Amino acid sequence: MDWGMKNRLASILSPKSGRCVMLAVDHGYFQGPTSGLQKPGETVAPLVEHADALMLTRGVLRSTISADVRIPIVLRASGGTSILQDDLSDEDRHVDIQDAVRLNVAGLALSIFVGSKNERRSLTNLAKLCDEGQQYGIPVLAVTAVGKEMVRDARYLGLASRIAAELGATIVKTYYCEDFEKVVAGCPVPIVIAGGKKIEERDALKLAYDAVSAGASGVDMGRNIFQSKWPVQMIQAVRGIVHEGKTADESWDWFQHAIG
Ligand code: 5RP
Repeated sequence: MDWGMKNRLASILSPKSGRCVMLAVDHGYFQGPTSGLQKPGETVAPLVEHADALMLTRGVLRSTISADVRIPIVLRASGGTSILQDDLSDEDRHVDIQDAVRLNVAGLALSIFVGSKNERRSLTNLAKLCDEGQQYGIPVLAVTAVGKEMVRDARYLGLASRIAAELGATIVKTYYCEDFEKVVAGCPVPIVIAGGKKIEERDALKLAYDAVSAGASGVDMGRNIFQSKWPVQMIQAVRGIVHEGKTADESWDWFQHAIG
């Protein structure tokens, strides 16, 4: 691995622990003005100091994030569908590598749709992005997006995660599921988990704890942080689990105390 690639990767995953709390705010790329992200710059401002990396689109980056903010950027490079479509797998790569370099990103992210009718296209897009990422020293985060009809179990998520790694992804983002150890065991690159739909804070902390206990390298979490009534305390509580070895209960106690 070349120095640039190593350096960018080390800015996302802690070189000491290999862990990461990434804040995902890219939802608007297919959901439009997602609840909590109507003004993404305002949402993100108090959270960046607690995040190891920020995942978002170039439009939101350019228009709402100040260039002097010191946070590694993981740039979403795929899109092309909206929630109005039944089939969300009809995505393509929409950011070229020169633009990623201009934006000084630490990583690029692209969704793959294993099992969908656009499986082959999304996997080919991933492989090409990984080629270009290698050429320019930019790690690629593969997002194992799931369609409505896909079962989020260890067999399916393990399959999608392994394929992503085989095609060259540097990090895989997937969902937590039962037997998550099997997903991690079958994937030779670090895995971070998405949080999914907003759930109770205590449950989201348990989700993060269960994931890292099963071998995840951390989280790439969005709605369970920015849709919380207490987003700053929530991201700190997640950090407690990912970086400080707190249990779900310890982190929940900390959170309750922090929100008073
Ligand atoms: C969508 C994404 C989102 O970033 C992802 O879902 C993470 O956010 P959340 O924790 O809200 O699920 O990649 O494909």
